[in-house]
Amino acid sequence: MPNTLSQDYKRTCVWKDDLFAGKVVFVTGGAGSICRVQTEAMVLLGADAVIVGRNGDKAAAAAREVAELRPGAKVLSFAVDVRDINTILEAVKQTVESLGRIDYVIAGAAGNFLAPITGLSANAFKTVIDIDLNGSFNTAKATLPELLKTKGSVVFVSATLHYRGLPFQAHPAAAKAGVDSLMKTIAVEFGPLGIRSNALAPGPIEGTEGMSRLGKGSEHNRQRSYEMIPLGRYGTTQEIADGTVYLFSPAAHYVTGQVLVVDGGQWQTTSPRMDAYPSVMLELAKQPNKI
Ligand code: HXC
Repeated sequence: MPNTLSQDYKRTCVWKDDLFAGKVVFVTGGAGSICRVQTEAMVLLGADAVIVGRNGDKAAAAAREVAELRPGAKVLSFAVDVRDINTILEAVKQTVESLGRIDYVIAGAAGNFLAPITGLSANAFKTVIDIDLNGSFNTAKATLPELLKTKGSVVFVSATLHYRGLPFQAHPAAAKAGVDSLMKTIAVEFGPLGIRSNALAPGPIEGTEGMSRLGKGSEHNRQRSYEMIPLGRYGTTQEIADGTVYLFSPAAHYVTGQVLVVDGGQWQTTSPRMDAYPSVMLELAKQPNKI
């Protein structure tokens, strides 16, 4: 069971309860942790949703659970492999038949594993490019005609893996660099037609599937990684939810072509020796402000 949002989100978040009432969000990868939380936030704030995934049973189970968060919420699911645009087109058709429209798209289906380049076969590299990059293109291509009708908005799930070299992540890093580029192209091609295109790049988020599978380590390593994050901790699913809601909300109506990085400042700490500095830095930061 992924780390999910609860009804509490409506009580603790800063957003209006019915912010997305009457709207429909279409989500790829919605059964996984990050996209699941993004979907939950949209549904809690009034949207109906469609969760698509390669494993139809997993997507259906996620849809049932998300629908329970808000009485009256309609949450559908379809088996879709984002590598095959025809499966997305069919899900889009069925979504419009059942729910009438698509206002928002979250393109989040992704695959990842740690592997050095020597351990990465050509097919392994291609597989991740196919899911993350080609899958994002296919999702955009299949949903843009519906977004044109509603003057909708798309949020790609990106990452910070590609901002600098990161060992064992050649495949998703290359893919996410492409996703960011695609996102910007859509922003400029479709902005004049009323569509906004942005990306959200999560940093390390507590309790997600990706972190538990890829970010495993000892308590000592965890403490060390906290020291590399300016805000001193991993993020929460609520913080991912808030970033996503912001990008779709009227508060971001003049925001397009952007990546919103929600990582506590982690990727900015590029110096390899930074881990030696935090306590010294903290003392310096406490000194009076000299003008
Ligand atoms: C090296 C590997 C590998 C591994 C698979 N392959 N796992 N190579 N190390 N650990 C190789 C296989 O040997 C094969 O190459 C090729 O990849 C395709 O593998 P398949 O299993 O046939 O592919 P498929 O069934 O399509 O599965 C795709 C997948 C899988 C990406 C490999 O892990 C998957 O479905 N993942 C979806 C869920 C997921 O990963 N979510 C995490 C997203 S988190 P050969 O040459 O043998 O044919 C995220 C955030 C990251 O993205 C945050 C970082 C901290």
